[in-house]
Amino acid sequence: MRITVVGTGYVGLTTGVCLASLGHQVAAVDIEPDRVAAVNAAKPPFYEPRLAEMLAAAISSGRLRATTNLSQAVAESGLIFVTVGTPQAGQEIDLTYVAEAVRQIGSALRSSPAYHVVTIKSTVLPGTTDTLVRQLLEETSGKSAGEYGLCMNPEFLREGSAIDDFLNPDRIVIGHDDPKSGQLLADVYGSFECPRVFTTLRNAEMIKYASNALLATLISYSNEIATLCEAIPGTDVRAVLDGVHLDRRLSPIVNGQRVSPGILSFLMAGCGFGGSCLPKDVNALRSRATGLGVTPHMLDAVMSVNSERPRLFGNLAEEALGSLRGATIAVLGLAFKAGTDDLRESASLAVIEHVVAKGAAVRAHDPIVTTAPANGSRINATLCATVEEAVTGADAALILTACPEFRSVDWSALVRRMRRQIILDGRNALAGVSWPRTVRYVSIGRSIEAAERDEQFPVTAEKAATTE
Ligand code: UGA
Repeated sequence: MRITVVGTGYVGLTTGVCLASLGHQVAAVDIEPDRVAAVNAAKPPFYEPRLAEMLAAAISSGRLRATTNLSQAVAESGLIFVTVGTPQAGQEIDLTYVAEAVRQIGSALRSSPAYHVVTIKSTVLPGTTDTLVRQLLEETSGKSAGEYGLCMNPEFLREGSAIDDFLNPDRIVIGHDDPKSGQLLADVYGSFECPRVFTTLRNAEMIKYASNALLATLISYSNEIATLCEAIPGTDVRAVLDGVHLDRRLSPIVNGQRVSPGILSFLMAGCGFGGSCLPKDVNALRSRATGLGVTPHMLDAVMSVNSERPRLFGNLAEEALGSLRGATIAVLGLAFKAGTDDLRESASLAVIEHVVAKGAAVRAHDPIVTTAPANGSRINATLCATVEEAVTGADAALILTACPEFRSVDWSALVRRMRRQIILDGRNALAGVSWPRTVRYVSIGRSIEAAERDEQFPVTAEKAATTE
């Protein structure tokens, strides 16, 4: 099928290269000529595992080309995906890019005699496709829905595993205006073995928000339990949540073996969720709820737990050091999670701001974020090329993303380079590392007194098979 993808961000480009790999002919449209040139030169404009090789294959096979010419791409395509950004604007989302893309698509449809299906993939609040998008398409095309198709097809891609998530989806949600357009969209995913949910445009939009709101809720729940464990000496959030996970409604026993579903990775303590999706989506849903006269009690609490968490972690560091004034702090991990270079809403940056405000100087290392962000935003730290460089002379090392690299370094040699051998693990990413006796290891979700007595309260769980 000939397909146009409008927007070459992580959702659009992932969608484009994956559809090209399935044999479709893809036009990737973007308004930025530099970005279009980079894509055509097989240079991904951002880091995402497997993307560089998939893009190179798509370009060299001729199945994907990038262009700024939206109207030509649309006229030649049966299916058009809108994957432009919906950035946070205050507590709401900014629909400017979606509206502009839809207007241009509508104008291109005006002169095309063929049947085209316009599909919104950008995350938009329930009702957006049905009202704003429909209205703009009708105005600019001079046609009414039915003469062209209208669908809403949310994405469930995680940064860091977007390609794998696209090619192995849990479900494909197809919100459609009429069965004909829904079926045409479903055909694109013909080879995938997963449930297809055919539903209304509004349900499709809401499924996306409800999914991200659930993930955010589980994280804030875990983090609130961690805060309580930090306040109750003798409790350790890892042991507590390990015990919770063993409820067989969370980890069922199948054929005599405990299965550990992927959702349990969201029932873990940390220093808060970030990224371009969870905070923005929860805030947008809260805002819509309030506008409808509904008080979003749960979602309000989810966000307030999350915004408090980096500050509480900074306080834990202050307690461990006595004072942050004049201290040198090594921060390991800057991105909002491991496996990406994305700094948006990163808890790590919030922790840095907090400790700097209390008088500390920060030396930071991230395996993927190696230079200051291109968008000009500032990281309040000296960037270091290695873990070793960051920890040398530091009074404490703060682990803020669960990068596997931080487990594989030789900590017994590294700690000797520190001024004070204090490690604060904000992701419980170094659990199980055996520390020299000179090291004070403080993991999140335990009281400082427990860390001082070095008490461990592990739960030895039955071996569990993991399912994603
Ligand atoms: C999230 C969802 O997982 C995807 O399903 C969804 O498609 C995507 O948003 C989106 O809306 O586009 P993503 O933002 O890439 O994906 O990242 P996640 O892996 O979900 O992590 C989100 C944040 O939660 C990260 O900051 C991570 O460190 C944090 N997190 C995760 C925790 O703090 N604790 C946990 O137990 C798990």
